[in-house]
Amino acid sequence: MAFATYPSLVDRVVFITGGASGIGASLVEQFHAQGAKVAFVDRQAQTGQALADRLAGAWFRALDVTDAAALTGAIADAAQVLGPVTVLVNNVADDTRHVAAETSAEAWRAGLAVNLDPVFIASTAVYPMMRQAGGGAIVNVSSINALWGPAGMAAYVAAKGAINSLTKSLAREWGGDGVRVNALSPGWVVTDRQLEFWLTPEAEAEWAKQVALKDRILPDDIARAALFLASDESRMMTGQNLVIDAGRL
Ligand SMILES: NC(=O)c1ccc[n+]([C@@H]2O[C@H](COP(=O)([O-])OP(=O)(O)OC[C@H]3O[C@@H](n4cnc5c(N)ncnc54)[C@H](O)[C@@H]3O)[C@@H](O)[C@H]2O)c1
Repeated sequence: MAFATYPSLVDRVVFITGGASGIGASLVEQFHAQGAKVAFVDRQAQTGQALADRLAGAWFRALDVTDAAALTGAIADAAQVLGPVTVLVNNVADDTRHVAAETSAEAWRAGLAVNLDPVFIASTAVYPMMRQAGGGAIVNVSSINALWGPAGMAAYVAAKGAINSLTKSLAREWGGDGVRVNALSPGWVVTDRQLEFWLTPEAEAEWAKQVALKDRILPDDIARAALFLASDESRMMTGQNLVIDAGRL
């Protein structure tokens, strides 16, 4: 297969949350390969630093995205070093399973604090830079689970549903400033974490029965869609939710 390069992404400053592993690491690598200036944050300090060390010019800081001041501080500091952020990929999430009826109010709030709040906080932090730059692109990583609503992950699913709505609301509010806001909804993507906890051969066989395309969805498949939504190729797309699920029709 041969994949696109996007001239508009060269030297563009891209900020990615949860970039140390999984789809986030692929996002970091793919944007870097396009010639973008990439900044990313993650709570995995060593893994994140190791990735940054491999990619010339990449900016990394270890932090917990539930700390709003740390997150907005990192965005400001990255912009000082690399320039105003004009692409934001809100990728971070935590899909830890929980039983709804046994979930405390604190645990529920913690679920939203990692899965939803950083999307709003990072987006509002980059918006002034994007407006001043004459525009920008925000890509929110949602999930097909927002549409399917599986059991055992109520906080995650609710957060993803909220991200879909927030995507539209911010797209409308900021469109006049040239700031585009779109969502991506991956199907089951083969990451290390999914393989470790949930993607057993049996589960994968069951998934394969449900989808039109009989190949694994890889982190790069999601990252490549994010490249498109961040690039000028999608300049008249906003408020959309691009589903990449191998055709779970
Ligand atoms: N993998 C899938 O099958 C799948 C399917 C649909 C949607 N998604 C979405 O894609 C995105 C990436 O998913 P993934 O599978 O790569 O997830 P992952 O769990 O493999 O990676 C998430 C990254 O975020 C980091 N992180 C988690 N909590 C953090 C916190 N509080 N502070 C800082 N960093 C934190 C982790 O260290 C990790 O590097 C998420 O938004 C997820 O909801 C994934």
